[in-house]
Amino acid sequence: MTERLDKFISAQTCYTRTDIRKLLWKRKVTVDGKIIRDGEVKINPEMSDVTVNGRKIIYRDKVYIILNKPEGYVCATEDKNKKTVMELLGEDIRRKDIFPSGRLDKDTTGMVLITNDGPLSHRILSPKKHIPKYYIVKLAEPFEEKYVNIFEQGIEIDRGEKCLPAKVRQCPDCENMAFIELFEGKYHQVKRMFAAVDNNVEKLTRIQMGGLKIPEKLGIGEYMEIMHKDVENLLKTPDFEEVFSSVGGNFSSYWINK
Ligand code: URA
Repeated sequence: MTERLDKFISAQTCYTRTDIRKLLWKRKVTVDGKIIRDGEVKINPEMSDVTVNGRKIIYRDKVYIILNKPEGYVCATEDKNKKTVMELLGEDIRRKDIFPSGRLDKDTTGMVLITNDGPLSHRILSPKKHIPKYYIVKLAEPFEEKYVNIFEQGIEIDRGEKCLPAKVRQCPDCENMAFIELFEGKYHQVKRMFAAVDNNVEKLTRIQMGGLKIPEKLGIGEYMEIMHKDVENLLKTPDFEEVFSSVGGNFSSYWINK
């Protein structure tokens, strides 16, 4: 398999076609150690050693990044006024075709998948595919046991807008914290669900998508690329009680520095 050098650089980085022409002209591109100034040169994406500005371009077809989103960033590729999660990524991993799969609110923290895999993103977000997302919620008022049944029935959050059945539990030994599983992602859904039972969400963090929990070592604002087997875990539907008990007594640790 061969590909034009300029197309390869364009697909694997954030450089525009014009940037690439200039970089080639300025002798900033090498292939297997040799300076190349012709963008039409054919390379083998998997075998050729390409550098731009001294940085090796590592060939990736599909990219999967897990980010621990801080407050204050929006889940978008571009925004005129607000900081986007893409700005948290280093230059070595940024490229034009990646996007956040789904949205967390600006003030929500936690697990976000950034990828260039459109079909996978669709599978994760589609309620029909039944991939759960798990959140820890800090409430303004104490959790009430009646929420368990109300959410299980599918709560109406606006006149006529009904949610799919959702499981919710009070976090052990913490009356103001809840753990919730959702199979869909309506706008401000968790906040609107608790507002519908006259409570208020003060803090919200997503800790797991499908069978993949956010790695504990991933600090706020940090990200990591995930491997193929982890991508498969994303597509699993785990047992709610198992996920809930796997968090154990660690619920509040998700708020540290958050
Ligand atoms: N529900 C919300 O209200 N906000 C989020 O960011 C995610 C789920």
